[in-house]
Formats: sequence, structure tokens, C-alpha cells
Amino acid sequence: MDAREEAGREGRLKVCIVGASGKLGRYMIRHALDRGYEVVGVCREKSVEKLDEFAGRITVMPGATDDREVIRRAVAGCDGVLTVLVPWGMRGYSSGTAQAVMDYAPKGARLIFSCGWHIKRDEQDVYGLKVLIMAKVVGWLARLARVIDLNDQVEACRRVFASDTRWTVVRGSDLEEGESEGLPVWSRHVGDPILKSNRTRRVDYALFMVEALVNDELIHEAPAIVGCQTPSALAHAQRA
Ligand SMILES: NC(=O)c1ccc[n+]([C@@H]2O[C@H](COP(=O)([O-])OP(=O)(O)OC[C@H]3O[C@@H](n4cnc5c(N)ncnc54)[C@H](OP(=O)(O)O)[C@@H]3O)[C@@H](O)[C@H]2O)c1
Repeated sequence: MDAREEAGREGRLKVCIVGASGKLGRYMIRHALDRGYEVVGVCREKSVEKLDEFAGRITVMPGATDDREVIRRAVAGCDGVLTVLVPWGMRGYSSGTAQAVMDYAPKGARLIFSCGWHIKRDEQDVYGLKVLIMAKVVGWLARLARVIDLNDQVEACRRVFASDTRWTVVRGSDLEEGESEGLPVWSRHVGDPILKSNRTRRVDYALFMVEALVNDELIHEAPAIVGCQTPSALAHAQRA
């Protein structure tokens, strides 16, 4: 066990959560606090009140997540940074956020980023026709409405994959609310049979992100995850 893993298990890590006020962000805060970690959360000024339930237990840094100065201050002294990558707007929000985190996080910090299966790591990711058409149509409509730019999330991940930081990009399946089922299982490649059920509880997605902070086997991996109790995960476990 290395020093960071030991610190993590003993609850001595300092972690920054970028995009803390969203659903995933708040679940990650809970998991991090449960482990005794010190938490700094970054969220938009107008969303600070969504973090009221954590008052006195976390430090909140209000600001846009692509504001480089906000990120510089928020990640100072952190052992790990959990970043919710969202493709909002048309001015490079996701890539700006990822870049700021990579530029300012302390050297050696574990950087964990969230995104969906639509992010392709390599040619071994295989997508069904339905998913490809959905991504094209939704991406096109969203760009037309100038609300969401999925290509910017792709650019953010391209930069992360090319960086020499200690990154992990966690690619989520479709998400649902509900009680935890346990740590999701994962595969290197979208399209693997283990992922077929395409469903993960959001609380467990957050669990996977937080666990990745102390799992060095996930460094430079882009795990595609699925709920451990889903039929495809259970079928795979039976075969193993
Ligand atoms: N939803 C899914 O089914 C799904 C599937 C696979 C992967 N994922 C991944 O999971 C992560 C979390 O997604 P989620 O859907 O569960 O959402 P979420 O946790 O609720 O997070 C949404 C985030 O977007 C921010 N946001 C909302 N509107 C914004 C705007 N106009 N400008 C800037 N930021 C804005 C929110 O901040 P405020 O609190 O300030 O509004 C919040 O931090 C993402 O990385 C996503 O790619 C999601």
C-alpha cells in the first residue's frame, strides 16, 4: 500500500470536487465525508445553497468550474480531484474545466473525471447503431439549440488522455436513482457483454469515482462502468 492509498484508507486525504452541487457531485461529497476526507467543493455561485446540507463540513468555492483562478485556489494542496465533466454551453466549458484542473492540481494528485460511454478511448470501443444515431441526433439538436456541446466533452477527454497526469476517466452508463447496489463493475471497452444492461445507480457511479482515488490500477484507464447487480454483470460473474 503506498502513502496515498494508506492516507485514503485512514481518512486523511484532501479532495476537491469540481461540480459539487450536481447530483453526482453531492453523492461524491457524501462518500468522501464518510471516508473522513477533507472536502473542497467548487460550484456555480447560484448553486451554493444546494450544498447547505454540508454546511460546516466542507469548504465551498463558488465560481464557474472553468474559471482558472477558482480552480487554482480550490485544488491547492489536494491529494485528489474529482471532476464532473458537463458539456454545457458553447464556449469550451468542459475542456476549460479539465485543462484548469490538469494545470493546477498538485503534481502526483489523482485526477478522476466523469463522462459517459459516448467518449471513445480507442478503436476497441464498439457502439451499436442505435447509440451512434442517438449521439449524432442529440448532439446535433443540442448544438443547434446552443445549449450543449458534446464535442467539447470529447475534446476535454482527448486532452486528459494525452496528459501525463495521474488521470482516470470514468465512463458512465445510463444512470438511475435508488439505493446503492455496491461498487460497479467495469470494462476497458464499450460494447463488452458485461456492460449490456447499460444501467448504474448514480450513487454507485459516485462510489466508483471516490474509490478510484485510492486505486492505482485505474491510473490511465477509462473504465466503462455498469451496476454490479445488473443482469449483464451477474451473467459475467457466473461465467468467471
Ligand atoms: N445523466 C446520465 O444519464 C449520464 C449517463 C452517463 C454519464 N453521465 C455523466 O455523469 C456526470 C453527471 O451527470 P448528471 O447527468 O448526473 O448531472 P449532475 O450530476 O446533476 O451534474 C450536472 C452538473 O452540470 C452543472 N450545470 C447544469 N447546468 C449548467 C450550465 N448551464 N452551465 C454550467 N454548468 C451547469 C450542474 O451545476 P449546478 O449544480 O450549478 O446546476 C452540475 O454540476 C457527467 O459527467 C455526465 O457526462 C451522465
